[in-house]
Amino acid sequence: MAESTPALSQTAFVQQLNFWARDASNESAALLGAFALGMFAHLPDEGASAPISLESLAQRIGGTERGTRSVIEPLVGLGFVRLEEGRGYSLPASSDFLRHEGFAARMREALDGWLVSAKLPEALRTGAPVEWRGGSRDLLGWYRQEFLAPRAPAPSPTAADYEDRAVRNFLRTQALVTSGTVGLLEAMVSGPRLLAELAKATGTQPEALRVLLGVLASMGLVRQEGDAFGFSELAGRSLDATSLPYFQRALPATMDYWEAFAHLDEAVTQRTFRLDLRDPETAKRIYQQNASRITGIFVSHLKLGRKAAELVASMRPLKDARVLDVGTGSGVWGAAFGLADPSVHVTYLDSEHVLAQVKPNIAKLKLEGRARYWAGDCLSVDYGESQYDVILLPQVIPALPPEELPRLFGQLARALRPQGLLLVSGYLLTDRRDGPLDALYFALRRYVSNEGDVLSMPDFRRLLEPVGLTSSRGFEMPIQQVVVASRGDVPWPSP
Ligand SMILES: C[S@@+](CC[C@H](N)C(=O)[O-])C[C@H]1O[C@@H](n2cnc3c(N)ncnc32)[C@H](O)[C@@H]1O
Repeated sequence: MAESTPALSQTAFVQQLNFWARDASNESAALLGAFALGMFAHLPDEGASAPISLESLAQRIGGTERGTRSVIEPLVGLGFVRLEEGRGYSLPASSDFLRHEGFAARMREALDGWLVSAKLPEALRTGAPVEWRGGSRDLLGWYRQEFLAPRAPAPSPTAADYEDRAVRNFLRTQALVTSGTVGLLEAMVSGPRLLAELAKATGTQPEALRVLLGVLASMGLVRQEGDAFGFSELAGRSLDATSLPYFQRALPATMDYWEAFAHLDEAVTQRTFRLDLRDPETAKRIYQQNASRITGIFVSHLKLGRKAAELVASMRPLKDARVLDVGTGSGVWGAAFGLADPSVHVTYLDSEHVLAQVKPNIAKLKLEGRARYWAGDCLSVDYGESQYDVILLPQVIPALPPEELPRLFGQLARALRPQGLLLVSGYLLTDRRDGPLDALYFALRRYVSNEGDVLSMPDFRRLLEPVGLTSSRGFEMPIQQVVVASRGDVPWPSP
């Protein structure tokens, strides 16, 4: 037992680190966005009167239903808002502080600083207040006040928790991303160094850098020994010379969403998206970055795809199967099915520029003889009738406009042969759509960039049953969940 304890806390630390690198800012965006939308004024007290339906709440705040839902679902998942199934939302007594003017003012002030916080690299280089909209803002002073100075007590532990997540989480994300940008993480990889040395290596002012190091210390990443600063033991074990570049590669994607999150309320009420992935040029840029990251995790996803292929093979033989991989990305899912049986033939469908990155991956696995590359838009190509035994939709639904899904599912169902299976992978929400939290944060990012939705099993059934795929189940896999659907009775594997 004694030996497994450090390993456990190491895992928890890595999870925490990944949370700060990305989802912590999504959490802040939802908690601050709810204030910008004036949501809490419309939520009845729990138990006092009937809960408010999503439709009415959206109407009251002047927002779309999807946008309103994207913001409120994480609040339900965190327990700050109550969801009464089939009826609607209310505010529990423990969340009463959300209606206090002083608390609301503090939240508005934090949201006002969201975009300013992206100037942290500049503040570190100059050590001075940053220019902001014709004036100046003391960004380092703000960080000092939030992380290094004694804090006024919050009205309740729940209020303190809300405040920490709303105000400090996005500042933590920004501190971590900036540590990557200025080269601080890299500078500490080889061991503790003096403040002056770190400042020189990162091109920053020592006293400004001391603030950032203090913030990282409060997050458990950094430890001071005398005049030297270095990684804490857990950080040192999590971020070594091999893993650090991989960790840092994910950080710029967080910043792609920064501006959009500052204007989340605008997306909900006006349907204007600062990062609009329905714009072809923006989508091309983001998906290309994405494809190279996906290629980076090819090996772990190949394992996952192979497990999914085993699941399918336990339900129907894969011999001579024709498989279609829709939105193939790196090609990893189709490849996993190609490897599962030497007679399987796979069609890889994605846009032309993404397919260029697929071909070398398929060649490396010696699968090109059984591969067809199909460059096209999965929403407008003609899939034909009774063409495929297995159709894969791995992590694609969140990239597609929700209003297109009924038609797409209809086309895919028609393209399946008798006994054919449709396999969807990615995040799967709970039936109540109140978790898991990381899936809700993922869904919020999809929303704010005008992309697709993340679905629950009941949501899937509403799409699958009308097109004749009357039998479907969700399966828990490492990293992701998988939904398998078919026409009528199929021999489901025992759980
Ligand atoms: C998140 S990636 C998933 C990649 C891969 N399936 C995986 O699981 O690793 C989504 C993929 O869907 C593709 N995609 C998005 N919209 C598409 C469309 N309308 N037609 C074809 N491909 C599309 C993107 O190019 C991207 O490669």
